[in-house]
Amino acid sequence: MKIITIVGARPQFIKAAAVHRAIEQHHRRGPSLRESHYKKRLREIWVHTGQHYDILMDKVFFDELQLPKPAYHLGVGSGSHGKQTGLMLERIEVVLEKEKPEAVIVYGDTNSTLAGALAAAKRHIPVAHIEAGLRSHNRNMPEELNRIVTDHLSTFLFCPTDLAVRNLSNEGIRESRSKIVRNVGDVMYDSILYYSKMAEEKSTVIKDLNLYFSTPNSELRTPNYYLATLHRAENTDDPQRLKSILRALDEIGRNHPVVLPLHPRTRKRMEVHFLFSRFVNIKFIEPVSYLDMLALEKNARAILTDSGGVQKEAYWFNIPCLTLREETEWVETIKSGWNQLVGIERKKIVQAVHDLEKKRPFKRGGMIFGEGRASEKIVRILLEWFR
Ligand code: UD1
Ligand code: UDP
Repeated sequence: MKIITIVGARPQFIKAAAVHRAIEQHHRRGPSLRESHYKKRLREIWVHTGQHYDILMDKVFFDELQLPKPAYHLGVGSGSHGKQTGLMLERIEVVLEKEKPEAVIVYGDTNSTLAGALAAAKRHIPVAHIEAGLRSHNRNMPEELNRIVTDHLSTFLFCPTDLAVRNLSNEGIRESRSKIVRNVGDVMYDSILYYSKMAEEKSTVIKDLNLYFSTPNSELRTPNYYLATLHRAENTDDPQRLKSILRALDEIGRNHPVVLPLHPRTRKRMEVHFLFSRFVNIKFIEPVSYLDMLALEKNARAILTDSGGVQKEAYWFNIPCLTLREETEWVETIKSGWNQLVGIERKKIVQAVHDLEKKRPFKRGGMIFGEGRASEKIVRILLEWFR
């Protein structure tokens, strides 16, 4: 069975890594007696749209996570939504025409996801959407539009939670003879389980950035910093929102350093508005590799972020999270009390950190996003369907 995996942006490399590993494992184990009906081997062909292309947003992940070299690199790069998505669509179509896969896998909610799904659906190739069913209910976000359209075009809707399955049902997308709609768990959880041990062994980022803190009476040196990430278009493209968040992080940074690996989008906006010299308490660093990011997350006092993936990683690592947005598609992390929506107002963010510090230590409830076997389930379902 030939499938095409479409990736293009940083989080997709991390998600696709988990599924790729599950496919490889299936091959290594070989079909067992019980699985003998899985006669077909899954042949995965990677297509990289080129949406992310800086070494630190792209190559670093392929090297570190030992991802397969994409058979096709479409070199689309940056641009307006229409231009970027349109170019992807055109170029993915050529690949689909040549390869004639039995299914196309797309991940998450980026323009690469949308283009992959649309190109495949138009050619009547079944689309498997991994991370289906998420809704922030904010249609001003490009990601929300990408999610909705992709879900409506997909044949396999691999949801990370029950709520995602319910969201789809509310839009009339339900399991049927021609559609799979299942809560399989979250492939990012598979990734974190696999790579966090490796991060512990290999990452030296905390030492390199000198983030240890020692008390005079203690030989113990523990990291003592906040970790922040910031890249949403709604937060970075509006200079007032961007400044408000940076002011808050700067104020928080007076007590403990705030480490902020800078997404290129944010760096560019900060350069345009000459913002770098104004926030001396924020430790701006280049985007970090996945293993370094896991190490930074795991040891932070708290995480402040507008990223989707980072909200969940905070949850999995038991690190309190403040989300710099008005709404989130990862509603379960909020309902569990682990994550808080703090918006972008300076005062509110600073107060939320202050309140968090008073509440230590924290205790989290059960796991929401499956048991770390999402990728394996996805591979089985696909093989079963196409046997
Ligand atoms: C994209 C996704 C977003 C996801 C994020 C993950 C869409 C609409 N958005 O946002 O959902 O959360 O990826 O990180 O698909 N740039 C570089 N080098 C790069 C990549 C981007 O300099 O390697 C700069 C360019 O100026 C570009 C800007 O960042 O215009 C935005 O990049 P783009 O891929 O359009 O969106 P992201 O903000 O990365
Ligand atoms: N990430 C990383 N290095 C960084 C910032 C993020 O490896 O400098 C990882 C992070 O751990 C998570 C994923 O990238 O697994 C999230 O990607 P991003 O925040 O860019 O996108 P989103 O999840 O919001 O779509």
